[in-house]
Amino acid sequence: MASEITCVQGDITVEQVDAIVNAANSSLLGGGGVDGAIHRAAGPRLLQACRELRRTRLPDGLPVGDAVATEAFDLPSRWVIHTVGPNRHAGQTDPALLRSCFTRSLEVAADLHARSIAFPAISAGVYGWDAEEVARIAWSAVTGADMELEEIRFVLFSERLQLAFERARPSSGAK
Ligand code: APR
Repeated sequence: MASEITCVQGDITVEQVDAIVNAANSSLLGGGGVDGAIHRAAGPRLLQACRELRRTRLPDGLPVGDAVATEAFDLPSRWVIHTVGPNRHAGQTDPALLRSCFTRSLEVAADLHARSIAFPAISAGVYGWDAEEVARIAWSAVTGADMELEEIRFVLFSERLQLAFERARPSSGAK
């Protein structure tokens, strides 16, 4: 279990952590929301790296619930871990898929020997999941994970989201 799990309100692209998680789509070729913000802040080499991943390892794209890392280029972090949340508007309503985004991202972070990671509220934007449900699943996934990360940070874009995450913190939480 991580030694510290925090919830902050802010923009994930300025977080000083080893890895930030991107709520991407299966194409890995960019989009709006946090994906667009990360690509803008990382610079064009991020898109090139994603294109290279598609060409070499992921010709059919990244499956929902899976995660893959690239360098972070112009971002303050070292890596971007791209994951694909379930799209509620496309009928992807299985909580296990969203949980898997968090657990697979943590596994990828562990493979990189990352010591700190920041997550956005995956699937809580364009993909239409309720903030409270995302928060509950996120906490459950990260507190159940067995690993040596020193810090897991949820970086929430609005006060409403941050409150949802604070309220969902397990009373016997890790912090
Ligand atoms: N930092 C942190 N959180 C952010 C930022 C940011 N800079 N920008 C947006 N967010 C928040 C949103 O407010 C939302 O709570 O990230 C959360 C996830 O929203 P989306 O980015 O819309 O991600 P998601 O719901 O998983 O949808 C993914 O959106 O743009 C596309 O390419 C992406 O197609 C994919 C889809």
